[in-house]
Amino acid sequence: MKSLTVHPGKKLNGCVSLPGDKSISHRALLFGALALGETHVTNFLPGGDCMATLACLRAMGVEIETIRPTELIVRGRGLHSLQPAQGALNCVRSGTTMRLLAGILAGQRFDSLLDGEEQLRRRPMRRVIDPLQRMGAHIESQDGRAPLKICARALRGCDHQLEIASAQVKSALLLAGLFAEGITRVHEPGPSRDHTERMLQAMGAAIHSDGNTVQIEAGQALHALPLRIPGDISSAAFPLVAALLAPQSELTLKDVGVNPTRTGLLDVLQIMGAAVKIGKVHFQGSEPTADLTISSSTLRGTQVGGETVVRMIDEFPIFMVAATQAQGVTVVRDAAELRVKETDRIATAAAELQAMGARVETLPDGFIVEGATPLRGAHVSSHGDHRLAMALAVAGLIASGETVIDDIDCAEDSFPGFVNLMRTIGAQYD
Ligand code: S3P
Repeated sequence: MKSLTVHPGKKLNGCVSLPGDKSISHRALLFGALALGETHVTNFLPGGDCMATLACLRAMGVEIETIRPTELIVRGRGLHSLQPAQGALNCVRSGTTMRLLAGILAGQRFDSLLDGEEQLRRRPMRRVIDPLQRMGAHIESQDGRAPLKICARALRGCDHQLEIASAQVKSALLLAGLFAEGITRVHEPGPSRDHTERMLQAMGAAIHSDGNTVQIEAGQALHALPLRIPGDISSAAFPLVAALLAPQSELTLKDVGVNPTRTGLLDVLQIMGAAVKIGKVHFQGSEPTADLTISSSTLRGTQVGGETVVRMIDEFPIFMVAATQAQGVTVVRDAAELRVKETDRIATAAAELQAMGARVETLPDGFIVEGATPLRGAHVSSHGDHRLAMALAVAGLIASGETVIDDIDCAEDSFPGFVNLMRTIGAQYD
């Protein structure tokens, strides 16, 4: 396991493009595999999580040609073309891989085993197991956790009322709905990211959204189409917050996905006083993208809760860093989901930032940060969580003295080349 040494004090400048969106890259592979024809994917994210999805699909006989790490051709042979894999499908550390595949595999005519690393085996899977079983699926688990044995069953469409807004659960159920008899409906308590709906619709599926309800009809053919993946706003969040906090910085991030179900962080930072300009919006396929221009800013504390939380669910480790530099108090509530991400992000992010001098109090469903507090360099750990690793690498840039982050490699799960991209804009990392 590699560590990263961060030397603070540099301004951050430049104009960079981000790797492809992780959620959309997973979907390009999965839906491309079920479609008819060649799905040509560009700006694909070759991070650990999406590579797990790719390997699982290849293990089920899907032909995927790698032209370069970020450009692929998925040769889809239709809804019923998957073959049983030899042995377990390894989802590594990717919750999206496991939950979306669970939806696809529940309605197949063969049994499958979904497994992954220890980190993934700890994560809750009942949220997909229970509603899939209501559709007739048969899934054996370890008390609601992986490994998951998914047995061949005929599924029937039904109405699902989700207790929490979750795009992974919604997507798993919609995908199962493709293989079920009749109509599958998913009602969410609030909006979650809608990349599945946008891509399935573009591929010709009869899928309809109305408010927080989405429904899909079974058995329709999906048609391959070229997909250019927008830059990942969840990856953009790291250089973005770094440029806000490092003095005299001015940074442009090109072609970032600005789907409104993902832009909670931008909204909240702007309320806090951040100078983030969103350029002209243009569409890459069915997804809106824009350039973001960021200048160093003085932030003030704010309150975050309700539907905004879901729209920035992956951004809380880096948001906690931003909050340490905001004048006054920042309060985050309604975010208990953070406790079951790659790590318990409320606990791990708070502990590591406290070690750097931050004043953070944890709550069962969020946290309170008192700022602005100068951070000091420390020896910290990512706990194997990619987004915590990168958040700490940004915190180190504004600390006094050196910061050493253990286990930085996991940043590659979602942001391959993170360290190098940050170096190109001026970060001093060894
Ligand atoms: C994702 C949905 C979110 C997010 C995850 C990716 C997706 O999870 O945290 O990183 O691609 O659908 P939940 O749906 O569990 O909130």
